[in-house]
Amino acid sequence: MTDKILLLSGDGIGPEIVSSAERLLNSLATNFGYEFEVNYGLLGGAAIDQFGDSFPEETCRLAEDCDAILLGAVGGPKWDKIERAIRPERGLLRLRAQLGLFCNLRPAVLLPALKNASSLKADLVSGLDLMIIRELTGGIYFGQPRGIEVKENGKRRGFNTLVYEEEEIERIVKLGFETAMKRSGRLCSVDKANVLEVTELWRDVVDKMASDYPQVTVEHLYVDNAAMQLVRAPKQFDVMVTTNLFGDILSDLAAMLTGSIGMLPSASLDGNNKGLFEPVHGSAPDIAGKNIANPIATIMSVSMMLKYSLNKPELALKIDAAVDSVLNQGLRTADIASGGESSLGTIEMTDAIIDALV
Ligand code: IPM
Ligand code: MG
Repeated sequence: MTDKILLLSGDGIGPEIVSSAERLLNSLATNFGYEFEVNYGLLGGAAIDQFGDSFPEETCRLAEDCDAILLGAVGGPKWDKIERAIRPERGLLRLRAQLGLFCNLRPAVLLPALKNASSLKADLVSGLDLMIIRELTGGIYFGQPRGIEVKENGKRRGFNTLVYEEEEIERIVKLGFETAMKRSGRLCSVDKANVLEVTELWRDVVDKMASDYPQVTVEHLYVDNAAMQLVRAPKQFDVMVTTNLFGDILSDLAAMLTGSIGMLPSASLDGNNKGLFEPVHGSAPDIAGKNIANPIATIMSVSMMLKYSLNKPELALKIDAAVDSVLNQGLRTADIASGGESSLGTIEMTDAIIDALV
């Protein structure tokens, strides 16, 4: 069966890194008989420029009518001044909500070849392999009411609402338990139950569900402590499950532990194998169009897409092995080159990974 893949380049370095991913897919077709077709859609700033909407109707239709979506990145200074409701980032949030992509998987894996690229001492991070599971379609990102209003005295009030239905907590926590079962059997749930009632409920749901998973050892941490522990001794963690906002913050922190946010892929899943796959890093407008962006996070996102949405684990393993192989050969893009090492451009790194596919 031919897989239908939607490519959303987005903004900044998006077109360059998505083009790397497309070349990689083409080479899987040529060399290993992978059957797929692609469609192209606009999201974010690129969509605002063309349609005046960061998540146009056409993109919505294409997104609903495909098996998996690969996204570059959205946003940039060009669109920072426009009305909040139509900014590029809002397009991404609407896409997540529209497709019900409630489960965000953000692995933070330190590749052995890069153990000196982390800002932490090598022995603290070597072998790090962490999975952050972030709730993605609820919480304070979507809660109503929200807004900025002008008070009688002329001063303004800004407000957002943190709200979780019990069912929303259950379905993400379930994936946390299932992921922990497939890995080390340890699950850390992150909340702020000492202050926020919503996360008191979250903690209670986790405790109730724990009895269904006797093989899993559950730990609860407050988010401030979790942030501290991630920097102090990150290898104590295996699977972490948390709310939308806490997951946003902790996943950036964890990404940095691995040495380059340019290396990390992510998956946003709907619970039925459909998903959106994107690098964790942003659109990096300052280096756009210069052929220096690191394509590895996007290439690893293709690997996650093949594994989680398209049921082609053998092709995913080939990509992972090819990335390991080029890194072991000492090949680097500028962001992961340590002083003195020469570095490859986006196109050249992509070529090297394609050549290393076996
Ligand atoms: C992320 C990003 C997004 C988020 C932004 C771009 C809306 O930071 O995917 O982590 O906050 O979810
Ligand atoms: Mg973020």
